[in-house]
Amino acid sequence: MPVKKNQLGKVEKSFLLPLTEIKKIIKNFHGEMEKGLANKKSSLRMIPAYVAKPTGEERGKYIALDLGGTNFRVLELELKGKGRMSPPEEKKFILEKKYTIGEGRDLFDFIAKCVKDFISTRKIAQGEKREIGFTFSFPVKQTGIASGILVNWTKDFSARGVEGRDVIKMLGDALKRSGIGHIKVSALVNDTVGTLVARAYQDSNCDVGLIIGTGTNACYEESITKIKKWQGAKKTGEKMIVNIEWGNFNRLPLNRFDKLLDDNSLNPGRQTLEKMVSGMYLGEIVRLVLRDCGLCGFSIAHSFKSEYISRIEADNSSDLRDVKAFFRGCGLGSLGLDERKMIKTICRLVTLRAARISAAALAAVVTKIDPALSKKHTVAIDGSVYEKHPGFSSHMHQALKEIFKSKVNRLKLVLAKDGSGKGAAIIASLA
Ligand code: GLC
Repeated sequence: MPVKKNQLGKVEKSFLLPLTEIKKIIKNFHGEMEKGLANKKSSLRMIPAYVAKPTGEERGKYIALDLGGTNFRVLELELKGKGRMSPPEEKKFILEKKYTIGEGRDLFDFIAKCVKDFISTRKIAQGEKREIGFTFSFPVKQTGIASGILVNWTKDFSARGVEGRDVIKMLGDALKRSGIGHIKVSALVNDTVGTLVARAYQDSNCDVGLIIGTGTNACYEESITKIKKWQGAKKTGEKMIVNIEWGNFNRLPLNRFDKLLDDNSLNPGRQTLEKMVSGMYLGEIVRLVLRDCGLCGFSIAHSFKSEYISRIEADNSSDLRDVKAFFRGCGLGSLGLDERKMIKTICRLVTLRAARISAAALAAVVTKIDPALSKKHTVAIDGSVYEKHPGFSSHMHQALKEIFKSKVNRLKLVLAKDGSGKGAAIIASLA
């Protein structure tokens, strides 16, 4: 089918995010943050995490559980103080769909079985205790360091009978059913919080944790006096980490592809920013645009994976040879060079917008902490999109430069691999 060039021009326009728009996003993001902190209606939940940054002197052996992505992981590591830790020993368990979308009880029984399996392989002396940190990467209304209620599932999880319930209690009951009821989970952690804490263990400038992977979200360190909805004691100078749940931010300019994706999603009207940024959705946006331009045959929803975008964008050959091989390999015949170029352009537009939205939201978070950027901030980032998507981190950096000009040097964005697991162990030590 011939490519409709003028159509592509229109599409292009609908994905641009100039600095003026970015500034609006920052302003609206601040407004939503304030409302969320005051318990007013807001698309940002701003959930107090019941934990502050570590000192780096925490010590001991801990176990961490990590649920929220494609695999379930159990890991053990030793904190050695002075910001040092042993490399984690971990075991991955494939999380089948029958658990993520089936009965909640089965999901927790599966987790308990994995924990039992892992523990049986460790040399834990009789009487020796191991605190466990549980990274549960969903919006949880925490009621304490080791308790919290799942507000709603996000990403592609929908297990029944979990929303509205305390996930630590559900896990505890499952551990009992598996015959390891003596194992106690002492901390419930969001992956962003784990990421921040893991980096802060060795870098005291770190005050933002960010995930841009299957889902996207951020947390930051806030002064307790500014968390208006915080019911506990409020000592001046005291700080607490706040899980923003930024994936649900909704004051963003949507185009018709975003609307289509949302209408056909599991959770219409929710997770608006996540649907424009994270790996779970980027491929689908590209697919919708390609289909609209009559460019390819991926007719089934979500059949165009975000990894394909990475592969297409990574092809820097003048004749886009690998793009050709890729489409041929998918059984879609041979595409002309013009068509291949357009496909790459579309991928780039979608990636670029995702990176610019992430930069805008990050800029809002950093200026909430420090409006004039008067000191240095380390932002710990994990997630497949940030780590693996060609150009994503440099697009993000470019947008931050437009926003902050020379002050951008006060921001250090670091890849914090596997922070969520390490952080959960550290938080277990604090609990
Ligand atoms: C989703 C979850 C959030 C998590 C993020 C990254 O947005 O709601 O809690 O941090 O994915 O995994």
